[in-house]
Formats: sequence, C-alpha cells, structure tokens
Amino acid sequence: MGVEGRQPSMKRDLWRALGYLRPYWWEALGASLSLLLATASNLVTPRLLQILIDRGIKASNLRLIYFMAGGIVVVAALRGVFTFLQGYLAERASQGVAFDLRQQIYTKLQSLSFSYHDQAQTGQLMTRATNDVDIVRMFVGMGFPNLLNIVIVFVGTAALLFAIDWQLALMSLTIVPVALTLILTILRRVMPRFMIIQQKLGHLNTVLQENLAGARVVKAFAREPYEIQRFKAANEDLLRENLYVARVMGFSIPILFTLGGVGTLIVIWAGGLRVIGGRLTLGELVAFNTYLASLTLPLFFLGMILGMMTRAGASARRVFEILDAETEIKEKPDAIELPPLKGRVEFDHVRFRYIGASEDALKDVSFVVEPGETVALLGETGSGKTTIINLIPRFYDVTAGAVRIDGYDVRDVKLHSLRSQIGIVLQETNLFTGTIRENIAFGRPDASMDEIIEAAQAAEAHDFIMSFPDGYETRVGERGVGLSGGQKQRIAIARALLMNPRILILDDYTSSVDVETEARIQRALERLMEGRTSFVIAQRVSTVRRADRILVLDHGRLVAQGTHEELLETSPIYAEIYYLQLGGQQPGRLFALSTPGNGGRRQISRSVRAERFKEVR
Ligand SMILES: Nc1ncnc2c1ncn2[C@@H]1O[C@H](COP(=O)(O)OP(=O)(O)OP(=O)(O)O)[C@@H](O)[C@H]1O
Ligand SMILES: [Mg+2]
Repeated sequence: MGVEGRQPSMKRDLWRALGYLRPYWWEALGASLSLLLATASNLVTPRLLQILIDRGIKASNLRLIYFMAGGIVVVAALRGVFTFLQGYLAERASQGVAFDLRQQIYTKLQSLSFSYHDQAQTGQLMTRATNDVDIVRMFVGMGFPNLLNIVIVFVGTAALLFAIDWQLALMSLTIVPVALTLILTILRRVMPRFMIIQQKLGHLNTVLQENLAGARVVKAFAREPYEIQRFKAANEDLLRENLYVARVMGFSIPILFTLGGVGTLIVIWAGGLRVIGGRLTLGELVAFNTYLASLTLPLFFLGMILGMMTRAGASARRVFEILDAETEIKEKPDAIELPPLKGRVEFDHVRFRYIGASEDALKDVSFVVEPGETVALLGETGSGKTTIINLIPRFYDVTAGAVRIDGYDVRDVKLHSLRSQIGIVLQETNLFTGTIRENIAFGRPDASMDEIIEAAQAAEAHDFIMSFPDGYETRVGERGVGLSGGQKQRIAIARALLMNPRILILDDYTSSVDVETEARIQRALERLMEGRTSFVIAQRVSTVRRADRILVLDHGRLVAQGTHEELLETSPIYAEIYYLQLGGQQPGRLFALSTPGNGGRRQISRSVRAERFKEVR
C-alpha cells in the first residue's frame, strides 16, 4: 500500500527504528553505560581470582586472600546494581519508543482514506500496532545495547586472553569463526520466516476480529463449528511456522555448546602441557579458562540477538508500511478554508472507479443541485447511490470530472472545513462505546444539552431515549449494543442533525425503522431540511415523492432526473420502479434488474427490501 516502489531493506528499517530512541537518548545512554560497567565488573572477577590463587593461596598470604575475596563480593554487588540500572533504563527507553510508534500508527490510521480502509484487514492492522511494535521494542531495548556490549566484551576478553598467553589464545579462538559462520547460515534460513510469522499472526487476528464482530451472524447461521475450524487452521499455520523457526534456531544452542567444549578441551590440553612445562602458572590457566567460558556466553547471546534483530527487521517493515502509506485524499498545500456554505452541489462529468474494481461505479454523471433543494437518489442496489454521496464530503477522489460545492472543487478546500459543514448518516450505523449523549455529540462534543435534545427530538429519538432509566446517560456498548436497529439509526440521524449542516446526507436512513416511525422522522426532517441541501437515499417511493428532484441511477449512469410527475412521463425505469411498488405488479421483476454477484449482504438487503415494498403496497 503505497510502498510498492520501495526496495525493502532490513538494515534501513532497523536504523529507522533505532532513530526512535532519539527522545530517550539519556535513558539509552545510561542503559548502555550500565551494561558496560556490569560487563567490566564481570571481567574483573577472574583476574581477582587469579591473584587470590597465585599470590594468596600459593604464598599462604591470608590477608590477601581475605582482601581479594572481599573484592570479589563488592564487584558482584556492583554488578547487580549496574544490571538493575541497565534493565530499568533500557525498559524506559524502549517502552517510550513503543509508545511513540503506537501513537504514530494510530494517528496515521486516522488520516488514511476510505480506500485504504476498504482494502486493509482490521486484524492485520491491529497486529502491526501491537505485536509488531512490541517486537521492535524488544530489539531496541535489549537487542541493540546487548549487541554493542557483546562486541566490546568479545574484544575485551580476547585481549585479556592474548595478554595471558597469546599462543594459547590463538589456538582456542579458532572456534569463533566456525561458530559465527554456523549462526549466520542458520539465520539466513529463518530470516524470511519471521515476516511470514507476523503475516500469519495478523491473519489469526483477522479471523478472531471478524468472528467477534460478526458473533451474532455466526450464531444465527449456526456456523460455530466452521468458525472454530477456520480459527484452528489459522492457528495451526502459525504454530507450524513458529515451530519451524524454533527448530532451526534451536540447532544453534547444541552447536555452540559443542564448540565451547572443544575450546575448553584445547585449553586444558595445551594449557596443561604449558603449566607442566613451567611456562604458565596454574592461576593463569584457571583465569584463561574462565575467560574462555565467558566468551561462549556472548557468542550464544549473539546468536539470539541476531535472531531477534532479524525478527525486528521484519516487524519494523510492517510498522513502517503503515506509517509510509500514501494518504489518498491529500489536502493541497494551498487548500483554502471553505467559507460558510450556501449548499450548491455540482457534479461535472464525474467518472469514478473503486481501487481494484473492473468497472466504473459512476459513468459520466452530471447534475446541479441548488441550495435548499431536497434530492432523492433512486436506483436498484449497486447502481451507485452511496458512491455519489461518498464523493460530496470527498471520501474518495473522482477518477475524472469534478465535484464542486458552491463553485469550489472539493479537492481545493481544507477537508475539515468541508466535512464539518456536511451532516451525514451512513448506510451502516456505527455507535461508539459511551453514553447516548456522547454518541449524539460525536461531531460536536461542546454541544449543549438543549441542542442535543433538540436534535434527538427531530430524529424521533427523544421519546425512546427518555424511556431508558438513565435517559441520555444510558451507556451503549460497542457498535451500539443494547439498542434496536431503528434506535441506532435515529441516534445516527440526531448526530448528523446536531452538526447543523448546510448539506445533509441521509443514506438509506430509514432501512431499519417501521413505516410509521419513518413518516414521523420524515415530518420532523421536512422542517429541518428547509434551507438545507439534502440528499436522501430511501427505498420507499413515498419518501422519494416528497423530494424536489429525483435522480434515477442505473448501473452507474444518471439516466433521468426530475420531479415525480415529470419522471413518470419521461423515464421508463422510474415508471417501472414506481408502478412495481404502487401498481401491484410482481415484485420479482424489479429484483431481477439488480446486478448479481454482490454476495450475502446484497442478498439480505434485497429480501429486506422485498418486505418493505410489500408494506408500501
Ligand atoms: N468500497 C468499494 N470498493 C469496490 N467496489 C465498491 C465499493 N463500494 C461499492 N462498490 C461497487 O460500486 C457499485 C456501486 O455501489 P454503491 O454502494 O454506490 O451502490 P448503492 O446504489 O448505494 O447500492 P445499495 O442500494 O445496495 O446501497 C457496486 O457495483 C459496488 O459493488
Ligand atoms: Mg448504498
């Protein structure tokens, strides 16, 4: 999504992730220093041990023995302090990085347009915002400082080994290049798998999220066994990938331990000969062996951290893919603030195609709506009604032609100044966790209670809201759980009315209310629509008849426009729809007109519509 042209590079992504440490440089520096000091105290211990043996025990110097033993304890305590500081400061820095990344992802998601959300899977996005961020965090907080530390420990230890006996050092260090080659070979094999693991985890979350969001549909269709199977398949996929990586990575541990054993063997054998020959003291041999053993551990760590780094590289890329996604709907740098609107809407030879679609959803649509007019959009399902109204608040950009409001091309104005003057009730109602009052005031959190009640009254929502014990403070759950479909819709209408918009858009706003409620909403709206430009999409001809003008759509084309009376004369399609509903013909014929292949949702809405047509007749 917007990153196709970019050559992925793990190194670049990792550096970029490390760049997020900048605001936390103090913590990061403190952590790195503490780590170095902890390591230094580690390195001192074998030296103290060597002195204790060679000059204390051998020379029977009790004072020196006590002194050195005390020194070892103090060094151990210091090491504890530094280790704590390192862990704490690294956590502060890395948690800060994770916080910033999550915040940036969320902010970015707010700015991405409808077309991005059309294609993105919620589960994948959520995985990127949480799990992937955490993997990057672990690398930034643990992996990177440790990587530095390992290099320093390595060089330091090697230098000490050379200082004790360079020939012995040379012999025993031959294991290092062998170990490194093996680790790198293993990592090269698992590297692509980390990307796949994150992908599979995202898929698992998508299945989970869809299932939870559609829990009611699943139960209604008794599809639980299928859903469990679907989840199991995704879960097994993820398990398989994880186990593969664990298996391959697991090889590195026995390899390293075996090599460590070989190193010890070399030291004991060659070193033992040297002690016998008098070229090395026993203390020196013990110190040498301790250092060599402490070299195996960083090597082992190195394997782990390189693995972590590879994994973080894959996750960082997934995170930056979101952050780098192009926002389709961009404000021009010189976008102008739209003045208070009169409400003239003009479509000028508009052509529009959804991303990935093979056909235009709108084909050369032109019309002008004067301020204050009420326009009804009519056409069978899939004919492009919702698409037309999506272009007015610039949810999508036209493929060709232009949409103008009061003469301003919507692409030339500031998005906020445009959308804040348009009230919209979308086809799919969405409420948020919170109270009814908060949901109505969603677009204007500063609205007074009187204004909220007024909007609710106009939407015919006040009475049912007051019938709840908590009234406007009634809490509704996610997606408005606890309310009926019609109640949710009326709250959505109140939310749009509260914006006091010059342009009001109601998409299928009466789809879940009964005929009587619709008539009541209709009457209330008629007052409110006065002086506003309104677009209504409603399936009932009774609603449509009240409009000043009707636009008739057919397969993305505007095939007729006019008043009810005019259209009856001039538009066969309108006449067909009209007579079909009011003239008592077989409703089956209208549905045969609908474009097929729109899947289950369309099927359902078709049968709902069949019900509604019956009501009208
Ligand atoms: N987000 C989308 N991505 C791709 N194609 C889309 C998208 N939304 C709609 N379409 C397609 O564009 C066409 C017009 O759809 P639109 O939603 O405008 O129809 P509609 O007239 O509002 O139908 P309904 O009465 O069912 O709401 C349809 O063929 C539909 O499949
Ligand atoms: Mg629609």
